[in-house]
Amino acid sequence: MTTSHESGFFTEETSAEVVIARNANAGNERLKQVMAVITRKLHEAVKEIEPTQDEWMQAILFLTETGHTCTDWRQEFILLSDVLGVSMLVDAVNNRKPSGASESTVLGPFHVADAPELPMGADICLDQKGTPMLVHGRILDTAGNPVAGAKIDVWQANDEGFYDVQQKGIQPDFNLRGVFRTGADGRYWFKGVKPKFYPIPDDGPVGKLLAALGRHPYRPAHLHYIIEAEGLATLVTHIFDPDDPYIASDAVFGVKDGLMATFKPVDDPARMADAGFAAPFVEVAFDFVLAPQPA
Ligand code: BEZ
Ligand code: FE
Repeated sequence: MTTSHESGFFTEETSAEVVIARNANAGNERLKQVMAVITRKLHEAVKEIEPTQDEWMQAILFLTETGHTCTDWRQEFILLSDVLGVSMLVDAVNNRKPSGASESTVLGPFHVADAPELPMGADICLDQKGTPMLVHGRILDTAGNPVAGAKIDVWQANDEGFYDVQQKGIQPDFNLRGVFRTGADGRYWFKGVKPKFYPIPDDGPVGKLLAALGRHPYRPAHLHYIIEAEGLATLVTHIFDPDDPYIASDAVFGVKDGLMATFKPVDDPARMADAGFAAPFVEVAFDFVLAPQPA
């Protein structure tokens, strides 16, 4: 008598290896490797969880709803990857930086590719709402040299926690976005508004999942940056307000120690005049260090 293992039939014990063996003729070795790992881990999960048929159908319907929620401007699967910590893990394995280089974090869904290039020092807050903010710093390489000609693409939510693209017709187009280019000293500076925490889009299946898990959907206040320079690795990152109520519980796990900035209130009239503000403002100073381009 032969056992089912010897016969190669599918059993509870042999399930993963039977499926993996069936993929032996895959033309793409990487696909074969990826599917073997995913199959093994997925079968292991089913064996540990032992879902009922109803629970498995709930999982299928959740993924179906996640797909149906995606549009040209909303990507619910990325949001799912974000709240599972997978986006940050993929970022981590792809951005192991030499010591001294600035850390990366998630891109998020609110970047706009064609934001205007502005003169250094410009105010990206086009509606003058909220507490004015001056942001400045240097772009350096890991040897401490200033990086000339670095392209700095910045975007942020407003003082109520909304990006311009979420409030079309309420905020001006391209509000709180701009692209700047450093000169020979590697310095950058621009004006904006003190950002506020905000919820990730939570009116879909991912929001329902967070609620069922007893989790809030908030991201702590931050400014987004993409910094690119010839011969250096592109840096996609944020800087965060360490005093934000959600700093220790970011819904998408994007916070890192090295990305804390200080949002310093300034109400000295001489400094206000110096910075070109008629009212008290917050000052944020932050240098970025770009890693060498990977080989
Ligand atoms: C953001 O910071 O813009 C963001 C990141 C991940 C999910 C949602 C929003
Ligand atoms: Fe954001």
